[in-house]
Amino acid sequence: MLSICNLAMEGIRKSRILIFGGTGYIGKYMVKASVTLGHPTFVYTRPLDAQTPSSKAQLCKEFNSMGVTLVHGELEHDQILAVIKQVDIVICSLPYPQVMEQLKIIDAIKVAGNIKRFLPSDFGVEEDRVNPLPPFQAFLDKKRKIRREIEAAGIPYTFVSANCFGAYFVNYLLRPYEITVYGNGDTKAVLNYEEDIAMYTIKVANDPRTYNRVVIYRPSKNIISQNELIALWEQKSGQNFRKDFVAEEEIVNLSQTLPPPHNIPVSILHSVFVRGDLVRFEIGEDDLEASQLYPDYNYTSIDELLDIFLVDPPAPASAAFE
Ligand SMILES: NC(=O)c1ccc[n+]([C@@H]2O[C@H](COP(=O)([O-])OP(=O)(O)OC[C@H]3O[C@@H](n4cnc5c(N)ncnc54)[C@H](OP(=O)(O)O)[C@@H]3O)[C@@H](O)[C@H]2O)c1
Repeated sequence: MLSICNLAMEGIRKSRILIFGGTGYIGKYMVKASVTLGHPTFVYTRPLDAQTPSSKAQLCKEFNSMGVTLVHGELEHDQILAVIKQVDIVICSLPYPQVMEQLKIIDAIKVAGNIKRFLPSDFGVEEDRVNPLPPFQAFLDKKRKIRREIEAAGIPYTFVSANCFGAYFVNYLLRPYEITVYGNGDTKAVLNYEEDIAMYTIKVANDPRTYNRVVIYRPSKNIISQNELIALWEQKSGQNFRKDFVAEEEIVNLSQTLPPPHNIPVSILHSVFVRGDLVRFEIGEDDLEASQLYPDYNYTSIDELLDIFLVDPPAPASAAFE
């Protein structure tokens, strides 16, 4: 009788989610989504000290008040292992320079043996299905290596292709007074609002249908070209903007002449807005797409995201493309 009760409890118990990088740009949305969806939520974060920006200290306070368990530590095996043993799902949103640090998380997950799902720090293009310029290719090679390590270790996973972070790219592309268009501006991209990326991510992390699968976030209302985005913004804001077009040859040339890591952002812009890598491949019957998996979830369209920008623009991210 007791074991049946335990099984029933297990069935209704919300999975415990640990987020690495939870104080970061996309991570903070993931933490809030996890709490909103009722999950006991843990954030692994480096210790606060005199150098800690006040914005992070403030965010940690906010997380505390939301009931989030903050675990302070470095990316060190024993410390990571101890917290991984207490949770069911691990989501990593560490930034690109820390991508290979995920090998430590993979090692700890292998040793712990209790993790039901691991989502590594992907959250961009579908890295196994694009062939961008060499600097972006090298960037993605590291993320691909992490995917292959997870598969080889037999860790249950979901790989997420979130496409463009919507507010992040709107902030970048629609900068006041100086709109730069990459290529001819007609190539379609996919811009998803960060809150939706986070909600989809918590959903896919818990979904049996996404076990050991790739999920692509490509909702139909978020597929848009730069020219369409600018026209929509002009219509909503009642302003007209001068557009400076940067030809493909110039972008390719910059990717070859800028020193690393400055050659990476231009190569990303080329992949997304010139080659159209986000929509270059069809979503087939065998693919999983987020808005089709969760048709009842009312995501924010790019049109609605621009309305949010008119009233209260979300804070820009770090200056990756400056
Ligand atoms: N699709 C898109 O448009 C797009 C755009 C940007 C990024 N991305 C991807 O999204 C993922 C997350 O990027 P992000 O920009 O959100 O990350 P981020 O804000 O730059 O960093 C996330 C967190 O990682 C931790 N961190 C930073 N430096 C660290 C270090 N040296 N050692 C250990 N921890 C460190 C920090 O947390 P603590 O201080 O709490 O430890 C930080 O808050 C990456 O995979 C990135 O490639 C995608």
